Amino acid sequence: MFREDVLKGQKILVTGGGTGLGRSMAEAYAAHGAEVVIWGRRGPVLEEAAEEIRAKTGGKVTPQAVDIRNPSAIDEAMEAIFAEGPLTGLVNNAAGNFISRTEDLSANAFNAIASIVAHGTFNTTVAAGRRWIAGGHRGNVISIVTTWVWTGSPFTVPSAMSKAGVAAMTQSLAVEWGPRGIRLNAIAPGPFPTKGAWERLMPEPLARKTGAGTGAGSIPLRRMGDHSELANLAVFLMAPGCDYLTGEVIAIDGGQWLATSGNFHSLTNLDDSDWEMIRAAIQATNAADRAKRTT
Ligand code: HXC
Repeated sequence: MFREDVLKGQKILVTGGGTGLGRSMAEAYAAHGAEVVIWGRRGPVLEEAAEEIRAKTGGKVTPQAVDIRNPSAIDEAMEAIFAEGPLTGLVNNAAGNFISRTEDLSANAFNAIASIVAHGTFNTTVAAGRRWIAGGHRGNVISIVTTWVWTGSPFTVPSAMSKAGVAAMTQSLAVEWGPRGIRLNAIAPGPFPTKGAWERLMPEPLARKTGAGTGAGSIPLRRMGDHSELANLAVFLMAPGCDYLTGEVIAIDGGQWLATSGNFHSLTNLDDSDWEMIRAAIQATNAADRAKRTT
């Protein structure tokens, strides 16, 4: 889809870059000529991912074990990166989430999510931003959110609140830092299965009970997303030629949130004979009403 060297000369940090969607984006950046830094909590997982990405792409990949819940660890690692030359891009991908009835959540459970998604994303963004501003460098931030920023999300309230905050940060800083040459956008992925998210959002007992997560019935395009499709959008937003796009939250979900936020999304599963029956029933109602009016 893109020239292989479209990101040549760029240096991009991906938080949560050792696994899941972060790993897919990091690999796509390296495959398109960027130098990549990946952050994650588990050193050995990061080292292994970095080695695999290097082997696949031939790119330069630097792993740094950083827990973004720790502001001083963020600052220290960011300082080390910029000491060797500024980042050109940051992807705020690291997240935590699990489903639970909200009345069962403790204050600590809320913090477990908010400390990663809201606080960690803010602290990482500001650590990069203040260095871009001080050095007079341009910068580009992509934050991974969810479509829940528009709809809310029952049973995942700490995540929905935190991701909505990240979307607000994206819009706010796009304006505040725009004059400094810093762009911020967010991507709201729909269902792109990953081990980390699926085990916490669709644990096996729930999947067995509801059958949910196994099909794609609520998705107008009738399938889950492929990681390469998300990675393409992440490359596009970092690429030269995309320089006028800022402050946007872009959904990539096969149309799912538009479909499921209306009243009639389940009707997409009806077949021709269902629709013939429905049409006949409505026409019978109309005819009965007309008959009443003329008598
Ligand atoms: C109720 C729970 C709970 C549960 C934990 N807690 N699980 N409460 N129901 N199922 C409570 C605990 O009792 C504790 O509170 C507090 O939360 C912290 O628990 P810990 O076990 O100490 O959690 P911690 O080690 O901090 O790990 C939490 C986590 C972990 C960081 C969120 O799950 C994790 O590592 N996740 C990373 C990967 C991930 O989650 N990926 C999914 C992202 S998906 P008390 O009061 O007892 O101390 C995403 C959007 C997907 O973001 C969108 C798809 C469309």
